[in-house]
Amino acid sequence: MTTIIGLSGSLRRDSYNSTLLFTMAAMMPNDSQIQIQTIQGIPLYNGDEESKNGIPKIVSHLKDLIANADGLLFVSPEYNHGVSGVAKNAIDWLTRPGSDIKRVFGGKPIALAGATVGGSGTMLAQNSLLPVFHALGANVWAGGFFLLSQVGALIDEKGEINDPETRAGIRHFVEGFVSHIKAN
Ligand SMILES: Cc1cc2nc3c(=O)[nH]c(=O)nc-3n(C[C@H](O)[C@H](O)[C@H](O)COP(=O)(O)O)c2cc1C
Repeated sequence: MTTIIGLSGSLRRDSYNSTLLFTMAAMMPNDSQIQIQTIQGIPLYNGDEESKNGIPKIVSHLKDLIANADGLLFVSPEYNHGVSGVAKNAIDWLTRPGSDIKRVFGGKPIALAGATVGGSGTMLAQNSLLPVFHALGANVWAGGFFLLSQVGALIDEKGEINDPETRAGIRHFVEGFVSHIKAN
């Protein structure tokens, strides 16, 4: 079984990015799964707090899950042409202490995706994550950025993504990422 940890970079209850992540999780190929985790509850990074109290349990638990998984899927909104602050804050915590970066991120296959109400599909947010994961030594999958624009129009009354073209794109994306992991 190929297991991918899925994280949404939005805390919003009805987040489009979380909806996209759930849709991806429901469309995984056989013998693979996305285990959705949350960054909700991760405190703001403060070096003084780290020195005093160490790594919060929620962070060390998530680090272990990522370290033991076959891959990581990061689905984040774009805020002001960058990644959301809560997403970057979570990544920063996950890199502490620095001596653990290799265990958690070293060579880890990572795929990026995002949904926006605007027209550029979170391209700039995803671009802003490239140097971050590169610096962490991760294996960022170059095979497919998943960019979802004007997402508001693609969500039905049940809050689900049912547009056939979008679903075909999602299937292609998750299958490609799983193949990449398996070929790794
Ligand atoms: C502070 C802020 C900045 C934003 N900046 C961008 C942006 O640069 N590009 C973009 O496509 N959407 C931007 N948006 C709109 C988001 O795409 C939209 O709020 C989206 O629904 C957020 O994702 P979520 O539904 O998963 O929470 C911004 C929204 C906020 C609140």
